[in-house]
Amino acid sequence: MLSWYLPESPGRYAFGEVPDPVPGPGEVRIAVRASALNHMDHWLTEGRPRPPALPHVPGNDVAGVVETVGEGVTDWRVGDEVVVNTAIVPVEALARGVDSVLDLSMRLLGEHCWGGHGEYCVVPAHQLAPRPTGRSWAEAAAYPVCSTNAWRLFRKAGLQAGESVLVTGIGGGVATAAFSLALHLGCEVHVTSRDPLKRRRALELGATGAYDSTEPYPVTVDAVVDSIGPATWDHAFGALRRGGRMLVCGGTSGTTVELHLPRLFFRQLDVIGASCGSQEEFEHVTRLVADGLPILIDDVVPLEEYPRALERLQESRQLGKLVLEHPDPGIGA
Ligand SMILES: NC(=O)c1ccc[n+]([C@@H]2O[C@H](COP(=O)([O-])OP(=O)(O)OC[C@H]3O[C@@H](n4cnc5c(N)ncnc54)[C@H](OP(=O)(O)O)[C@@H]3O)[C@@H](O)[C@H]2O)c1
Repeated sequence: MLSWYLPESPGRYAFGEVPDPVPGPGEVRIAVRASALNHMDHWLTEGRPRPPALPHVPGNDVAGVVETVGEGVTDWRVGDEVVVNTAIVPVEALARGVDSVLDLSMRLLGEHCWGGHGEYCVVPAHQLAPRPTGRSWAEAAAYPVCSTNAWRLFRKAGLQAGESVLVTGIGGGVATAAFSLALHLGCEVHVTSRDPLKRRRALELGATGAYDSTEPYPVTVDAVVDSIGPATWDHAFGALRRGGRMLVCGGTSGTTVELHLPRLFFRQLDVIGASCGSQEEFEHVTRLVADGLPILIDDVVPLEEYPRALERLQESRQLGKLVLEHPDPGIGA
């Protein structure tokens, strides 16, 4: 198939022929219609992590049409329009419900195995959900990683309508997903960004307050969503009310932060981490998307223009998800 791939790691993506992925028992092959970028696309070029095998096909977020079904697959048929839950677990793990994603063998599509920035993508059939009705291919590809992860954080935190949330780095994919979801759940949402234009845009989109990510935040909130780490950690922690929750899903600016323990226990704070989401959570979010959850898309570009989209992400110029549009393979409706 024609695909973007990483020939070496660290390295730069190349476009060309790689072997067609073949679905095994219980798997399906999807003709990809749209795939979205994540910060992982960038991490992989730096060898953080190094993919388990090379060449490696990136792309964590995938929406498309079932093109081949492997042996034993009965729930899906050729032509079905689907989205993929990125956190791949064995089918037996699904019995653990929201904890299925804690399975030790969990792998991330596009990180530990080939992802979706090529013509085809092979995944276990139990990772699929029907494409949300009424949403574009780009929207279908833009929500699986980030909105599912945001929902897992909010569910773990027991976030309620009427609570206040601060989301750091609003330009980012997971940040915009948390922003939209928190608004949708009836929360009061504040944001930060280094970019004044993004702060202004967030206010237009419904943020109550928008602050410079690099200055102390002049607000006290019930929960903070942070995917940036050391660059925002102190200000983010400082914005929590007593009993507040720090919701962590990334570390774009680094992997290590300093935690002032008296601040943590005297102020009775919780620190909650989450990565991706279980199939149950993914299906819940898919229903929210079908019901109209806004998905913020920065740009949709043809598959060939992946390097341009990646550069935009690497330079933090985006506000929302960057999506690659794939050619129509002429399968299905
Ligand atoms: N746990 C999970 O399931 C999960 C899911 C998705 C992402 N992640 C992680 O979350 C992080 C963000 O991913 P993403 O795909 O949303 O990334 P992204 O789209 O590239 O966005 C990153 C945003 O972070 C802000 N930022 C970056 N460096 C900064 C710095 N030094 N100081 C202040 N702000 C900074 C910028 O916001 P402004 O432009 O507004 O300043 C930027 O737009 C990554 O670490 C990723 O690995 C985890």
